[in-house]
Amino acid sequence: MAQPPPDVEGDDCLPAYRHLFCPDLLRDKVAFITGGGSGIGFRIAEIFMRHGCHTAIASRSLPRVLTAARKLAAATGRRCLPLSMDVRVPPAVMAAVDQALKEFGKIDILINCAAGNFLCPAGALSFNAFKTVLDIDTSGTFNVSRVLYEKFLRDHGGVIVNITATLGHRGQVLQVHAGSAKAAVDAMTRHLAVEWGPQNIRVNSLAPGPISGTEGLRRLGGPQASLSTRVAVSPLQRLGNKTEIAHCVLFLASPLASFVTGAVLVADGGAWLTFPNDVKGLADFASFSAKL
Ligand code: HXC
Ligand code: NAP
Repeated sequence: MAQPPPDVEGDDCLPAYRHLFCPDLLRDKVAFITGGGSGIGFRIAEIFMRHGCHTAIASRSLPRVLTAARKLAAATGRRCLPLSMDVRVPPAVMAAVDQALKEFGKIDILINCAAGNFLCPAGALSFNAFKTVLDIDTSGTFNVSRVLYEKFLRDHGGVIVNITATLGHRGQVLQVHAGSAKAAVDAMTRHLAVEWGPQNIRVNSLAPGPISGTEGLRRLGGPQASLSTRVAVSPLQRLGNKTEIAHCVLFLASPLASFVTGAVLVADGGAWLTFPNDVKGLADFASFSAKL
């Protein structure tokens, strides 16, 4: 059975929702979600809230998280705290986590979803471009995890889910920066699962494939015709949607996964196994000159 649940393209809540899991699954839990103002992170916040959770959503743009928080609270009746912070700036992360703890008194779940990406051949990528993506995806994930561990999780336990990608599983053209960054996060997942398991902290990764209605797909999908061809040869022969990813993250964050830690759950319809790796696509970027 592989029928996707309905979804909508933009950063809006679902007009209707049918629970597949128990509606009380996260009753009165609190989740801190980086990148929760848009795309996959927004839908994770919504689905968590539809299962009883309160959320803090954090990203750089205050207007973005303010708007998102209003929509999320109105659609679900749960509380959502919007926070402006850059995951690359530890003092800003500390201040945001303090604010969330002041508002809710606890944080049970951390979702590291903030990321940055673009298509660029390795030979044209500046040192700073590579570093920027590693800083956001990899150091950002560590920074937020480390701050939350210090301020709450070490003493109370909890769950961390890192949103990664399958780019580095085979090596994907135009993606050395993001593939390296996300592979490092998957390694971090295992390290932290080992070190923090005794404190009753579970740490897992969720690696989505190409997901409709997201900035990631808009930036990386390429021309529609070529994307359709690539999707057609993948095992489930379609894109995933944000709700499907949110359901997987909900599973990992919930007591249903109480004995799961250090795992990478790939949710991509089998795409990484078959996706053509378009080496010819590199030619489209031939006009780029290396900028060091
Ligand atoms: C080459 C680029 C570039 C591009 C930026 N740079 N965009 N190089 N091609 N398209 C270079 C810049 O020239 C600069 O290097 C360095 O990267 C930093 O750029 P800034 O603009 O100063 O960085 P910053 O303002 O921090 O913005 C970060 C960003 C931006 C990643 C560049 O795009 C961003 O904020 N993205 C967030 C949203 C996002 O990317 N969402 C998609 C996530 S999808 P120089 O040398 O000039 O100083 C995803 C995985 C999907 O993560 C997997 C799909 C299957
Ligand atoms: P998105 O909407 O652009 O999500 C990225 C979020 O991260 C944005 O809300 C952005 O908000 C925030 N962010 C970026 N840089 C930040 C920083 N320095 N500090 C704090 N927040 C920052 O893209 P998406 O496609 O939904 O991607 C969500 C996650 O899924 C990412 O981890 C991505 O790598 C992963 N993923 C996506 C796909 C896909 O097909 N879309 C596939 C595989 C993996 P601000 O701009 O306000 O900071």
